[in-house]
Amino acid sequence: MQLAFGHRPVYDGLECRMRKGEIHLLLGGSGTGKSTLLRMIGGLQRPDSGIVRVAGHDLAGLRERDLGEIRKGIGMLFQNGALLDSMTVLENVGLPLREHTKQSRVEIEERVSSVLSAVGLDDVQSLLPRELSGGMLRRVAFARAIVMEPEILLCDEPFSGLDPLNVTRIEDLLVRLNKELGLTVVVTSHHMASSLRMADQMILMRDRICVSGTPEELAGGDDEGVIEFLGEDGRSFLARLHEIRDHGNVGDGSSAGDLR
Ligand SMILES: Nc1ncnc2c1ncn2[C@@H]1O[C@H](COP(=O)(O)OP(=O)(O)OP(=O)(O)O)[C@@H](O)[C@H]1O
Ligand SMILES: [Mg+2]
Repeated sequence: MQLAFGHRPVYDGLECRMRKGEIHLLLGGSGTGKSTLLRMIGGLQRPDSGIVRVAGHDLAGLRERDLGEIRKGIGMLFQNGALLDSMTVLENVGLPLREHTKQSRVEIEERVSSVLSAVGLDDVQSLLPRELSGGMLRRVAFARAIVMEPEILLCDEPFSGLDPLNVTRIEDLLVRLNKELGLTVVVTSHHMASSLRMADQMILMRDRICVSGTPEELAGGDDEGVIEFLGEDGRSFLARLHEIRDHGNVGDGSSAGDLR
């Protein structure tokens, strides 16, 4: 797949496969095209050439209406929040339900309360975005991304600006949604420790292509770009991954609240 903005190529021969039901961690330096790749999967950006296939559909070949249908099954958390300033938290999180379902006001309120509680936010429903902290905004945006129970969740930097408790909370929630509902997740993050703990697949963007594999495969491999990106800390972290996965708190869902 190829894509350039003006004379600046972002991808040149990029080939990347992501598997249904797995958690994919998208890594790479600033400007390597992580957010752009999420936008492509979400049907918001088309490649110059090549194919972007999601759930068996080539997105480039779809009409806007069919693309809209596919987008309903995709939750997106954008890097820069994108909540609507003039709407309360309840209205922001409930927006996809109001637009795409026939649920009643009461049903929508119940669902919104449930997802807000799952991200650790109670009693903020009537507040406006400007009345929230950065970490709270991130969690509201996350709640909005999962409110429709999507099959695919694209999360751009879900952990940025969160305190350790909330990093763990969001991480647990992602793992639970993945394990219990089979949610396919693609997450970009600079929060290496947390993200590596939950990743089934790692995709490292570099030199306009990507290198991918399980964390164990990439850590054990000899790709110079991977070694350079992970650095000493990243590699020793990966070497201890089994230990961390066995003893970490990921997947027990203890702080994630009830989603259904
Ligand atoms: N709409 C756009 N118009 C022009 N150039 C763009 C546009 N979107 C992205 N780019 C360029 O594409 C490249 C990749 O951007 P992208 O936002 O995907 O990077 P990123 O890997 O997400 O970086 P970061 O880690 O800083 O978020 C950058 O060089 C950026 O300047
Ligand atoms: Mg980005």
